[in-house]
Amino acid sequence: MIYFAPMEGVTNFIFRGTFSKFYNGIEKYYTPFIPTNEKGALGPSSKREILPENNKNIYLVPQILTSNSLNFIKTTRTLRRFGYKEINLNLGCPSGTVVSKGKGSGMLQTPLVLRTFLDEIFKEDNLEISIKTRIGFSSGEEMENLLKIFNDYPMKELIVHPRVREDFYKNTPDLSVFQEIVDNSKNSLCYNGDLFTVEQIRTFKEKFPTVKKIMIGRGLITNPGLIREYETGQKMKKSEYKAFHDELYSSYSSFLSGDRNLMFKMKEYWKFWSSNFPDNKKQIKKIQKSGYSLNRVGRFT
Ligand SMILES: Cc1cc2nc3c(=O)[nH]c(=O)nc-3n(C[C@H](O)[C@H](O)[C@H](O)COP(=O)(O)O)c2cc1C
Repeated sequence: MIYFAPMEGVTNFIFRGTFSKFYNGIEKYYTPFIPTNEKGALGPSSKREILPENNKNIYLVPQILTSNSLNFIKTTRTLRRFGYKEINLNLGCPSGTVVSKGKGSGMLQTPLVLRTFLDEIFKEDNLEISIKTRIGFSSGEEMENLLKIFNDYPMKELIVHPRVREDFYKNTPDLSVFQEIVDNSKNSLCYNGDLFTVEQIRTFKEKFPTVKKIMIGRGLITNPGLIREYETGQKMKKSEYKAFHDELYSSYSSFLSGDRNLMFKMKEYWKFWSSNFPDNKKQIKKIQKSGYSLNRVGRFT
């Protein structure tokens, strides 16, 4: 089973809509993190993310980022009104502003606070909660204790990105800690991290045959046809990239105002796509450099 990882600014509803028109094989999509407030209300962009009419034909799991259990519960009640009963909790976000508020991977620093938070949210009836976590804040050794906590709650699944907060996205996923989780988790597991190629997916599956669920983010943005290639061997063609690109571009152009916003949004994808075009370094450089300098009449070049 393959899940599409949430990526703030990248896997939003427009991307998900375009992707799912072109490709099958994704069991679950996740929203980028949704912040909470004391009313449990959704801001306009979070609301757009979860509106069922913006997420036709896909199974979507809203992801919440908060360290306040009451806000979490209120937000899940709002989400339930839109039909969602499975919710994901973000315990992985490494960003400084998030961590400094004790949210995301920041919560891994304070296991007692985490336990109290989980005690509260798991009291909610008829709610399926999954958790997406890193393996610690500073060291993978923290996971032994964290896993004892996670094992006390009947979660829908535990999605593990085996890096610590201090890695951000550097270094490599720690598969020996992941193996310990496989050996000791009472919850159903999903693996996430650094699966970019068919070979890497195969190697992972050989090493961890009991882990049936994997979540992929950057690998699927870089190669939207990755799952098909994995399942059938059929690789992406340039014409297919173009069709996918054009559809994404056209969806964004009807949503974003102004060429500048549109260009910067598309450049976020080009950061990932550029590695697919190793023979076009000049053109890629032009894309990367576009928009950063204003000429004398105030137009960007
Ligand atoms: C630009 C970017 C935005 C991300 N936003 C989120 C997010 O909103 N919520 C979340 O749980 N993880 C987020 N992540 C982490 C990814 O979901 C995933 O865990 C990470 O990219 C590792 O998986 P991958 O190697 O398959 O990409 C983000 C990652 C990136 C690179």
